Amino acid sequence: MRFEEREIVLKDGRKCILKPNSPEYAEAMIEYLTKTSGETEFLLRYPDEVNYTLENEQEILQRLLEDPYVIMMAAIVDGKVAGNGSVSGIGDKRKIRHRCSMAIALYEEYWGLGIGTAMIGYMTELAREIGWHQMDLEVVAENEQAQALYKKCGFIESGRRHNALLFDDGTYHDEILMYKDLK
Ligand SMILES: CC(C)(COP(=O)(O)OP(=O)(O)OC[C@H]1O[C@@H](n2cnc3c(N)ncnc32)[C@H](O)[C@@H]1OP(=O)(O)O)[C@@H](O)C(=O)NCCC(=O)NCCS
Repeated sequence: MRFEEREIVLKDGRKCILKPNSPEYAEAMIEYLTKTSGETEFLLRYPDEVNYTLENEQEILQRLLEDPYVIMMAAIVDGKVAGNGSVSGIGDKRKIRHRCSMAIALYEEYWGLGIGTAMIGYMTELAREIGWHQMDLEVVAENEQAQALYKKCGFIESGRRHNALLFDDGTYHDEILMYKDLK
């Protein structure tokens, strides 16, 4: 969906623009997906699982930009993509269409500057405007940094999915389920 750009000031004094992601960032997004998935084990993909062509990614970003039920928010610092956040509906059946799901990741060099807090604040506002009642997310049990951010932003732990993830090194990892009430 399209939404207003918002400028924030980071903890190091730099400016960051939160804006709808769009096809102009397709190449940057392929690099972002590949690099961030190698910088942390806490994302779902491994770098070799990022297989988008430029054309493919441009089409996806255009479709998501036009979809009124998807938020794709890019964080831009010094003209470069620092991170991305996304919110989409869980499903269109009447019993679940009040819920949305959120995901966020930044390049490591931008961690701890306040971008995550600002993005979740803005995505929450937009999700309320769309009409969702609840925002859900899953986070790897060992990802303390992300859980600290989510708790700070008002998310509450509601459960745990046993052995949700199997890493390449053969270890299993639980996921923590969290939600934020938007009503
Ligand atoms: C998780 C992530 C999005 C957080 O974004 P961020 O911009 O670094 O977060 P913020 O700077 O807004 O910090 C928010 C809170 O997180 C906590 N936090 C920040 N850095 C932390 C660290 N290194 N360890 C523990 N907690 C930390 C603090 O409570 C902080 O609040 P404060 O600013 O009031 O001190 C970012 O670190 C990231 O992209 N990580 C890798 C990908 C990932 O794990 N995504 C989530 C998958 S579920």
